Amino acid sequence: MENHISREAAVELLKNYNKDSFHLQHALTVEGVMRWYARQLGFAQDEDFWGIVGLLHDIDFEMYPEEHCIKAPELLREGGVGEEMIHAICSHAYGMHVDVKPEHTMEKVLFATDELTGLIWAAALMRPSLSTQDMELKSLKKKYKSKGFAAGCSRDVIEKGAEMLGWPLDELLQKTLDAMKDCETKVLKESALWQDMKKKSRAARRGDWKTEPMPEQHETFILDRSFTDNEMDALRRGNIPQAMEDKWFWYMEGSTFWAHRSWTGYCIYQIEFKEDNHHVVTVNRNPEQYKCTSVEEDIESLNRLLDQWICNSRPASRR
Ligand SMILES: [Fe+2]
Repeated sequence: MENHISREAAVELLKNYNKDSFHLQHALTVEGVMRWYARQLGFAQDEDFWGIVGLLHDIDFEMYPEEHCIKAPELLREGGVGEEMIHAICSHAYGMHVDVKPEHTMEKVLFATDELTGLIWAAALMRPSLSTQDMELKSLKKKYKSKGFAAGCSRDVIEKGAEMLGWPLDELLQKTLDAMKDCETKVLKESALWQDMKKKSRAARRGDWKTEPMPEQHETFILDRSFTDNEMDALRRGNIPQAMEDKWFWYMEGSTFWAHRSWTGYCIYQIEFKEDNHHVVTVNRNPEQYKCTSVEEDIESLNRLLDQWICNSRPASRR
């Protein structure tokens, strides 16, 4: 099989067009299943190719559901994906959105298992274990036959896929169940990691940490300082404490910035950013919450903190 893009690049490409956690988990599941089949069916040397086809097969579905596998070639080409892989990906919509017929065993496996993985996962979520690990073919078949169950997973497509592969339906069900058992832990782990990364890459919001309101005892002063666009972006991203040493939680709402002590939630500074660079700072003067009483000292320490916060801020997510 032709050279193909790295898995790392494929993941990046996938995430450019897919944000929904359900879609991302589905992509990882189909990847895992395709890898298992590659190894089982004697294509171990092409496992990566099979896997990446699985990972990217629904690339356009979230943003272009009406043009599924019609929009995909454009997105994939732009992402550096080769024609052989594009053919494989588009062939899974054969007879539905496109006329690209599954030819290679890999393409037939993708066609046959895509919908089926959705059905198997739905069946797993009905179990007390919430897992495929203790699922047997018998109970899967029961779910499969129940028309109302996971009705969105087309039995027609699954059966057409089994026929293309020349396998009885039971064989396809059993193998795909085995494949899902094999990759489940890995899939769930990576999917949770991606969710976590997403949470960290969005801007912090008020509810992300405990916060106390600014007390009635407070003082207001003007902070003269200009900020570049990048510096303002860094402040807008805020900070959710990640470790005990992380002493501050800060976030912005509109042009108002709030800084809270992470351990107590006390609000120490509130800044109203002004276009003319004379920003209005409200500072906590409740002696039980904050010891400083001098505006000069506050200006100094606030400037130091702002430098620190701007410089430690994580880079923004790509989109
Ligand atoms: Fe799919």
